[in-house]
Amino acid sequence: MCGIVGAVAERNITPILLEGLKRLEYRGYDSAGIAVIDSDGQLMRLRRSGKVAELEQAQQQEPLAGRIGIAHTRWATHGAPCERNAHPHFSSNEIAVVHNGIIENHQALREQLKGLGYLFTSDTDTEVIVHLLHYKLHEMGDLAAALKAAVQELHGAYGLAVVAASQPDRLLAARSGSPLVVGLGLGENFLASDQLALRQVTDRFLYLEEGDIAEIRRDSVRIWDIEGREVQRETLQLQEGAEAADKGEYRHFMLKEIHEQPKVVQRTLEGRLADDQVLVQAFGPQAAELFAKVRNVQIIACGTSFHAGMVARYWLEGLTGIPCQVEVASEFRYRKVAVQPDTLFVTISQSGETADTLAALRNAKGAGYLASLTICNVATSSLVRESDLCLLTNAGPEIGVASTKAFTTQLVGLLLLTLALGRSQQRLAAGLEAELVGELRRLPSRLGEVLGMEKAVEKVAELFAEKHHTLFLGRGVQYPVAMEGALKLKEISYIHAEAYPAGELKHGPLALVDSDMPVVTVAPNDELLEKLKSNLQEVRARGGQLIVFADEQAGMDKEDGVQVIPMSHVHEVLAPIYYTLPLQLLSYYVAVLRGTDVDQPRNLAKSVTVE
Ligand code: G6P
Repeated sequence: MCGIVGAVAERNITPILLEGLKRLEYRGYDSAGIAVIDSDGQLMRLRRSGKVAELEQAQQQEPLAGRIGIAHTRWATHGAPCERNAHPHFSSNEIAVVHNGIIENHQALREQLKGLGYLFTSDTDTEVIVHLLHYKLHEMGDLAAALKAAVQELHGAYGLAVVAASQPDRLLAARSGSPLVVGLGLGENFLASDQLALRQVTDRFLYLEEGDIAEIRRDSVRIWDIEGREVQRETLQLQEGAEAADKGEYRHFMLKEIHEQPKVVQRTLEGRLADDQVLVQAFGPQAAELFAKVRNVQIIACGTSFHAGMVARYWLEGLTGIPCQVEVASEFRYRKVAVQPDTLFVTISQSGETADTLAALRNAKGAGYLASLTICNVATSSLVRESDLCLLTNAGPEIGVASTKAFTTQLVGLLLLTLALGRSQQRLAAGLEAELVGELRRLPSRLGEVLGMEKAVEKVAELFAEKHHTLFLGRGVQYPVAMEGALKLKEISYIHAEAYPAGELKHGPLALVDSDMPVVTVAPNDELLEKLKSNLQEVRARGGQLIVFADEQAGMDKEDGVQVIPMSHVHEVLAPIYYTLPLQLLSYYVAVLRGTDVDQPRNLAKSVTVE
């Protein structure tokens, strides 16, 4: 989704801003722009619809240079994706603003500002901010004071970066509902919506909190909190190398991230297992005490993370008997919920910044939940900071919009949670924890073996290249795996893909089945195998083309219209993790055949920070 980069330095900051935008490209966007204050004190800007590369080309033709500036990648919400609506937005060539988020009262503000004589040149909600700021600046004279006054009038979510030609030594920022991070350099400082944008210039960061306003100069950073008090925010020195934006030997980040899964699953497990037990304290110092009290689990997430939650429900109820509900955050946050006593509120999120998931957590506070826990990949994210307990998945930055390693590491985290909760309450069958801990230890190397199927999956992908619709079937815990497989395929290949519990086939989707509709199924050798086989017969009888990822012991034979891709036998509980991999590879190779933008599929964003 939208990205912000800002810089104030003694050198020309244009290359830093452009590099920052490139590093944010993975988040998804449709236009890009940059504004700097040049050596004559003029605000200059360049904007382009399309990719950052086009902006870069334009910059080579009409070079912009300056020591202070802001830049943005926009993902359209209000107003079409075109140059006129791209950020930065200007007011009278005096102030420039870039904005992430949505201003809900933009219509009323627009009318007021028009009444004051302001002319609007875009259809965006953001333009009201820059004119409002202009008005306040003329009233108050000081940019920080003007920003503090202006944000009082904004309803909605924002991460803002502002520069004014009349005050060319400072960059202002404001955060409410959309993350911002300040990067600290030597005699130069930076701002971004994601630290990844700044890893080429610094590894020292401080994270703005909700309601913060920051004034960033070359040699100082001042921050005021929501009450207007001047505050210090902790500086964090990041340890990891600048691993982010490098595809290495791979053609796409998605393929790289699929192949990273054995390694990152190993990292998720590191420090979390004793000999034959899960370490409860991995979830936080209070976890042991809280887990003993849990009678219910409520899971909230979006997208792929929601599918991880659906798998966890089978594990929690099946292995521990603890009731578990799973809901998408965008529904949950607006629903009146009857909270069961002693319910653990669990959020799952790769980014830790998804607007709906964060809002659900905030609503849950004070609603009667026992405690909140997040399973998250980003240590510095809002969800981690605002939850009582946390398990970091440690998957490393995920750049491909289609989530892969984030999902499998979430599943590992959720299985650890299931075992930790089950043991805290003596609800696990004897020996089960030790057995599954052993299986988890073998998981990384066995995932590596599963990736050995790549060539076979690549071949099968050819069957999909010309298709328009597909059906994914699964039963039991494999149903959410099928949902995740369908989501991956539609996200990156733009083929319509639906997932169904195989037992529901007769209640509607069978009407769609014909020889033009591939039906993908995952068939581990579990207790539902025989039932699944009957469902597959129903498809065959209607001429449907079946592609079955099947346990080699499942007795599924290749026949006319049935492609069987054998999988080695795996432990039933961990099967959802293993069976996810071939479905990821399948969607990847179908997308490659169709020539889509695999890492940045159209209309989608990596981190959805607006509603
Ligand atoms: C977007 C991404 C998905 C992701 C979802 C939830 O839709 O494209 O890959 O699953 O957001 O994001 P989260 O960061 O909360 O897991």
